[in-house]
Amino acid sequence: MSALIVAESSFGNTLAISHAIARGLGRATTPYAATIASPREIGTTIPAYVDLLIVGAPTHNLSMPKPATRAQATTKGAVGQTGGGVREWIEHLDARPGLRVVTFDTSIKSGFAPSSASKSAARALKKRGFRDVVRGHSFWVTGLTGPLLDGEDDRADAWGALLAAKTPDNQ
Ligand SMILES: Cc1cc2nc3c(=O)[nH]c(=O)nc-3n(C[C@H](O)[C@H](O)[C@H](O)COP(=O)(O)O)c2cc1C
Repeated sequence: MSALIVAESSFGNTLAISHAIARGLGRATTPYAATIASPREIGTTIPAYVDLLIVGAPTHNLSMPKPATRAQATTKGAVGQTGGGVREWIEHLDARPGLRVVTFDTSIKSGFAPSSASKSAARALKKRGFRDVVRGHSFWVTGLTGPLLDGEDDRADAWGALLAAKTPDNQ
């Protein structure tokens, strides 16, 4: 089985979570070989061999990053992302309606979070024509530039293993 993780990251935290998810996917009983790509380096047609698409982004203003919020991140020292990101990639993505898709984000943990990048990504993917889309977890950072909260790396690894356990034959 093959998973493609497409992730945008301004300060590296979402990318670190992507690597942890990939590790978890790879150590499951029925492992997934996971590839991690940035939206800029992957085309808008998902390769036929991909069985599971995972889309991740940092939450910016309760949603996926936009050019203006990426520019704000750059003023805070972000080096991870220039040009388009997950939002723009989804807008041009060729739909594979039956493909299993899961989203995740990194966010600052707070008591009240009405929305997040994973929620807006799931909504955009459904709008684009994907039918099997699940909004996955938010993983927590301690502040705007990170780092991740203690234990989030392990939580992402465990989640990856759980995702791999839920194959199409074993929902
Ligand atoms: C412009 C901007 C807006 C942000 N807005 C939110 C927000 O609405 N909610 C939140 O939890 N975190 C917010 N954050 C913090 C990001 O979630 C945090 O920078 C991100 O998780 C770090 O991940 P990265 O290293 O992959 O970029 C914002 C960050 C930036 C730069």
